[in-house]
Amino acid sequence: MAAISAAVAIPSFTGLKAAGASSAKPAVSVRMAAPKLAVKASLKDFGVAVAATAASAIIASNALALDVTLGSDDGALVFIPQNFEIASGEKIVFKNNAGFPHNVVFDEDEVPAGVDVAKISMSEEDLLNAKGETYAVTLTAPGTYSFYCSPHQGAGMVGKVTVK
Ligand code: CU
Repeated sequence: MAAISAAVAIPSFTGLKAAGASSAKPAVSVRMAAPKLAVKASLKDFGVAVAATAASAIIASNALALDVTLGSDDGALVFIPQNFEIASGEKIVFKNNAGFPHNVVFDEDEVPAGVDVAKISMSEEDLLNAKGETYAVTLTAPGTYSFYCSPHQGAGMVGKVTVK
């Protein structure tokens, strides 16, 4: 039956089939394959472009926020970075990483005059108990602020930030 319907169809296209029967089909299959390859390639490029865009978005948002890691990856009781500068109004995001519980308490004797440490500190009893927990604070008064982690102050988990 297939042979018959082919035979029926051929007469009206005899000229085309004669020229295309052997070359048109491979051409079609090549055309089918080429767009697939092109799509794959463009998806890959797209993925790279998306990744690049995401990375630049993170960098852009970091322009207004500085991350401080609580505890090094190997468990050392430190703020990373330990001593840094930020612009007034820039957000500082303390991120719990390892060696917790940690917290962030500003030293009332080592902040610019007029700054109320209670408003920028976690309470001594308040602790970040899980990896990834954060405490964010925004400082506006220029000057140097000392802060510490109350469970680990004695172990040297202290830091300093200078607001420009
Ligand atoms: Cu700590």
